[in-house]
Amino acid sequence: MNKKITVLAGDGIGPEITAEAVKVLGRIAVKYGHVFSYDYVDIGGCSIDRYGVPITDEGMKICKSSDSVLLGAVGGPKWDDCPPAVRPEKALLAVRKELGLFANLRPTKLFPRLAAASPLKKRIVGGGIDLLIVRELTGGVYFGPKKTETVNGESVATDVMPYSEHEIERIGRVAFETAVKRRKKLTSVDKANVLETSRLWRKTMHRLADEYSDVEYNDILVDNAAMQLIKNPSQFDVLVTENMFGDILSDEASMLTGSIGMMPSASLSSGTLGMYEPIHGSAPDIAGLDMANPIGTVLSAAMMLRYSFGMAAEADDIENAVNEVLDSGARTADIMPSDDGSCCTADGSCRKVSCSEMGSLIADRI
Ligand code: IPM
Ligand code: MG
Repeated sequence: MNKKITVLAGDGIGPEITAEAVKVLGRIAVKYGHVFSYDYVDIGGCSIDRYGVPITDEGMKICKSSDSVLLGAVGGPKWDDCPPAVRPEKALLAVRKELGLFANLRPTKLFPRLAAASPLKKRIVGGGIDLLIVRELTGGVYFGPKKTETVNGESVATDVMPYSEHEIERIGRVAFETAVKRRKKLTSVDKANVLETSRLWRKTMHRLADEYSDVEYNDILVDNAAMQLIKNPSQFDVLVTENMFGDILSDEASMLTGSIGMMPSASLSSGTLGMYEPIHGSAPDIAGLDMANPIGTVLSAAMMLRYSFGMAAEADDIENAVNEVLDSGARTADIMPSDDGSCCTADGSCRKVSCSEMGSLIADRI
C-alpha cells in the first residue's frame, strides 16, 4: 500500500521521538512492501518562530490531504507568554477540530517487565494493567466560549463547557464498540452530582447502554475515578469521558505503565484519517539530549497502522518488537529502575540506552 503521512514533529523532544517512529515505520515498509511518504509540517513554537502562527493554512491543508498525521509534542517555556490566539497548543487544538478528531483512544498498558518502573506497589500493578481511556476530544471546555473581562474593577475570566447530545452519543458509540471488542466492560466518568453537562452525558450513555446489552456498564464520578485508578486499576476495561476529565485522568493513568513516555494515543475521526501522538509533552528540559523515551511515539505509529491503514499484522509486529526490547533489558532513563532491578531481564540486568538507540533496537526486531 502507498500511504501519505504528515509528520508534525513540533517542539522540544518532538523531532527526536518522531524520528524514531519514522525509523521503525521504515522497517515495516520494507518488510511488508508498503510505501510510506512523509510531509514535514511545522507546528507549535517552531512554527510561531518561523511564520508567526502556530500552524500555517498551508500546513493545515497538508494534514487534511494526507492519510494520517504523526505528531511529536508542542510547546515550551519560550512560548509561554504568547497571546492565547497564537500559543503552540492552539495549533494542536485547531488540527483536532479541523480534522474532526473527536475520539481520542489512550491505551494504558503495563508491559510485564516494567512493573517495578511504576511508582505503584507491585500488588497493585503486578497482575498487569490493560485499560483504555476514550476521551472526547473536540468539545467541552476546551472549545467553549471564553473571555476575560473587567467586572466591578477586577478581572473575571470565564470558560464555558458546552456539550450537545450528538457529541456525547458519537463518543459513546466509539466507547461501546471498543468495549465490545475487548473485555466488554465500560465505565463512564462524569461529575453528574454537580455539572449539567454531566447529567446530559449520563442520560445519553444510559440510552446507549440499553442498546449494547452485552456490555457491562457503570457510571463513576470523576473524583472517585481518580482514586480508583490508583487503588484498584485492574477493575477497569474501557473508560469513557469528556475532554478535560480525559486529559487529567490519562496523565494519572500513564503512571500505571511505568512512565508517561510509554503511552501512545490515537485521535480518530468518523473516517480513516487520524492523528497519532504520545500523550506526553515536549519535555524541554531534556530536548536535544537524545535521552527521551520514543516508545510512546513508536506505539502511536503502531496505532496509525492499525486504525488508519488497517494493517493489524504490522501493528502487532511493532508492539511485539517493543515488548522484546524491554525483555532484553534496554531502558531509556525514565524507565531505568533505581532500586531492585526487578523490572529487567530474568537475570536482573538492565542497560540504559539513548532515544535513538531505543528506536534502532525496536527497528532491528521488525
Ligand atoms: C494532551 C495535551 C494537550 C491537551 C495540550 C498540549 C493542549 O495535554 O494531549 O493531553 O490538553 O489535550
Ligand atoms: Mg494532557
